[in-house]
Amino acid sequence: MRGKFITLEGLDGAGKSTHLARLVALLRQAGKPVVQTREPGGTPLGEKLRGLLLAEPMHLETEALLMFAARREHLDKVILPALERGDWVVCDRFTDASFAYQGGGRGLSVEKLGILENWVQDGLDPDLTLLFDVSTEIALGRVKSMGRELDRFEQEKQEFFERVRAAYLARARANAARFRVIDSGKTLDSINVELEEIVSGVC
Ligand code: TYD
Repeated sequence: MRGKFITLEGLDGAGKSTHLARLVALLRQAGKPVVQTREPGGTPLGEKLRGLLLAEPMHLETEALLMFAARREHLDKVILPALERGDWVVCDRFTDASFAYQGGGRGLSVEKLGILENWVQDGLDPDLTLLFDVSTEIALGRVKSMGRELDRFEQEKQEFFERVRAAYLARARANAARFRVIDSGKTLDSINVELEEIVSGVC
């Protein structure tokens, strides 16, 4: 049986990494073989592209094309083989991030993003997408308190993140069947309870 493909999305500083670790642990406790991966990245070539994407200034369309180039490689080398083996794939960001950041944040048209999505994914959508939604004030506050050098996206202004958040929420409304929006401003405990419910619902 084919495994399930779960993606996690949200603003930088939404707490995604903490929730991802918890989700993977819960799925493993439920006996699922889990492959944990991330975008941009997830393959040796994809990780090189990630290095460029997070550091080098580039044209908006170059940025979108490199995101999808890394994704093509990731699908071919990691995601599709894992799903075909029957493993579950938990991916930190996927195409919804391109619609949110390159689309909402930078202003690339939904039409162009849709062409890339159809080309690269060829009908394969996540089975479930968890969107960790939080105000830009909270998210940016967390990013700034991380105490490390910020990447090219994290350095963007609050208005940019307002547009990213709005695009994520629009994408969730347009794909309501696979999205679950989680209020990431809530306590860790209550989010853990929500994750437990989600896992018992999908396993
Ligand atoms: P992120 O998961 O935030 O990495 P980290 O937790 O290590 O900081 O992802 C890196 C950045 O990449 C993030 O700011 C969003 C951006 N991104 C896009 O702009 N488009 C995409 O399609 C993807 C997958 C990520």
